[in-house]
Amino acid sequence: MQRNEFYPHLFQPIELAGRRLRNRIVHASISTHFMDQGGGHDRQVQYLANRARGGAAAIVTEPLGIAPHQPKFRLRVYDDAMEDFGRRWADAVESLDCRLLGQIQDTGRGRHAPGRNPNAIGASADPDDLSWTMPHAMSKGEIRAFIDSAAESSARLARWGYSGVEISAGHGHLFHQFMSPRSNRRDDDYGGCLENRTRFVSELCAAIRSAAGSGFIVGVKLPGDDGVPGGIDPAMAAEIAAHLVSRVTIDYVAYAQGAHHRSLEMHLPNDSYPRLPYLAMTRNLAGATPGVPVMALGRITDPAEAEGILARGDIALIGLGRPLITDPAWPLKAGAGRARDIRYCVNNNTCWKIAVGHAPLVCDNNPRVGLPDEVDFQPAPAAARRRVVVVGTGVAGLEAAWTAAARGHAVIVFGASSEVGGKTRLHARLPNSESLSSVYDYQFAEAQRHGARFELGVRAGAERILAERPDVVVLATGARMVWPSCLPPELHALGLVPDLRSAMGDLERLQERQRGRAVILDMDHTEGTYAAADRLNELFDEVIVLTPRERIAEDVALVTRQGILRRFHLQRIRWHGLVEPIWSEAFENEARLEYASVYGGIVGHIDDVAFFAYATPRRPNDELAAPLRDAGIDVRLVGDCRVARHVVDATLEGHAAGMSV
Ligand SMILES: Cc1cc2nc3c(=O)[nH]c(=O)nc-3n(C[C@H](O)[C@H](O)[C@H](O)COP(=O)(O)O)c2cc1C
Repeated sequence: MQRNEFYPHLFQPIELAGRRLRNRIVHASISTHFMDQGGGHDRQVQYLANRARGGAAAIVTEPLGIAPHQPKFRLRVYDDAMEDFGRRWADAVESLDCRLLGQIQDTGRGRHAPGRNPNAIGASADPDDLSWTMPHAMSKGEIRAFIDSAAESSARLARWGYSGVEISAGHGHLFHQFMSPRSNRRDDDYGGCLENRTRFVSELCAAIRSAAGSGFIVGVKLPGDDGVPGGIDPAMAAEIAAHLVSRVTIDYVAYAQGAHHRSLEMHLPNDSYPRLPYLAMTRNLAGATPGVPVMALGRITDPAEAEGILARGDIALIGLGRPLITDPAWPLKAGAGRARDIRYCVNNNTCWKIAVGHAPLVCDNNPRVGLPDEVDFQPAPAAARRRVVVVGTGVAGLEAAWTAAARGHAVIVFGASSEVGGKTRLHARLPNSESLSSVYDYQFAEAQRHGARFELGVRAGAERILAERPDVVVLATGARMVWPSCLPPELHALGLVPDLRSAMGDLERLQERQRGRAVILDMDHTEGTYAAADRLNELFDEVIVLTPRERIAEDVALVTRQGILRRFHLQRIRWHGLVEPIWSEAFENEARLEYASVYGGIVGHIDDVAFFAYATPRRPNDELAAPLRDAGIDVRLVGDCRVARHVVDATLEGHAAGMSV
């Protein structure tokens, strides 16, 4: 076996239960929700095959249906009618020298979507911390039946060609609920002491092993630190892991953080967490299970990090969740010394937000998730070379530019700023947001590599654009925040109250702290507004966010909102819901801003206001469309310039435009 010259530890094969993994990279379980959609079955198989073709050594599937009370969109392993489809998953992956592990999971009482789960089962009749779902406390007979059903399903998986299973015993799901003293109040053999609380999982492992036979991988994803008072902390996690591996043979152990609680955010660390946030903890936990391969997991973004993790020898496997959504060819590119070609995960958790809504998986930095040509995607040449002008260098414009250039078109890109990236670049410079730069960095590098010509620092008008004799113009000129209706229109012209984006641009060079308070009117509810609040908090005495909605951050993923609310609390950033600022002389004369309830009546005021800006819905900057169309040009509007939304929409639309010109 030849040693990989770039990342020798990462590409060192390993055996689990006698089965060979060609390297150390394991695709962590990701619920894609492709199968909730009509025709989504093929996309699901394609999604898995793409990760295998991209070089992962093993893939953990999304949770499988192992009992009839579980959601029907899962691959129902207990149902013979699903055999052909189940075998297709295995063939698609195993035939590409990648081990497929089915995930055994039940959410128990855990729920992070609105509403309650009427079919929830649990250790005890105690409500879920997040949704307050009340589970039915499982009887011993029901526990036995569940174990039998999971074991039978595992035996089927073995017959269908799967290499093994992963028992998902973290994340605050059912098995975690049994192991945690917080949610297990039983007084029988499955409750009380640690041995009893882990009995469900150890019996499950043993039953699967005996049903599926030797040579079938049984891995376990355990809680590392669930962040719940009275729950499982790293010390207890070490005891649980040590106890389990002393009772049953486990082929690898991975650790998940957080639970269905305010701590849910911990399982998907974003830029507000340090890089490799759980590595030190995982190294400590590895000491509890000597001889058992341990998987590091959680915000491992690039191959150099992965190589460094493995080099010490105490960690055997690298789990990648979001990074392999973004780039299934991450392993291939790393192994070939092409790490610079990886499209990196930006940790924005758009994938999770979408999946929670049961919509098919999408990614801020991968517009082709689960499509047949996704791996190391290179656009096919266009039938005829056309002249394409792209106006705007935000992520929508750049995505259109690189894909059109890669297809062989002559692409000219106008950007009003001397730097590319548009508003996403401004956002990436704010606290806890730096990963976003990976979106436009990749696009810009690819556009240049494929010969797109950039005219930066040029605010091109219709005449300048027409002078390029374009066949197609892609308008990606973004959008501007509208003046809020709660403030008098005549105030707009005075320029006393800026929009938040312009204001943050102006503040960028400010280093020294300012006296007074900063106030944001928040009618935006996306990440950038709260990153701006974090930055203002570095500069001003106090930051206060006012919103007419019930609460802040409603348009971000729950896990992201949890982090924002926590940080706001810790940094003493205040926010008030269901209010709107009121304009009065007091603002100009005394720097006092009054605010009213949305139901009427002044309810408070803020003194010493040194900064006041609004973040509101954005109106398209589409003024160029009409004159260009009048001149007979095929004009395509993309991203905010069409309808202002999120990074993911801009990437997707820019991509579609670049692929269709
Ligand atoms: C969209 C999405 C869906 C996920 N679905 C599951 C799941 O069904 N089962 C599971 O155990 N973990 C799930 N996870 C968690 C991942 O397996 C992994 O633990 C987490 O993403 C941290 O790894 P990362 O930082 O490499 O993304 C999901 C994560 C994301 C982003």
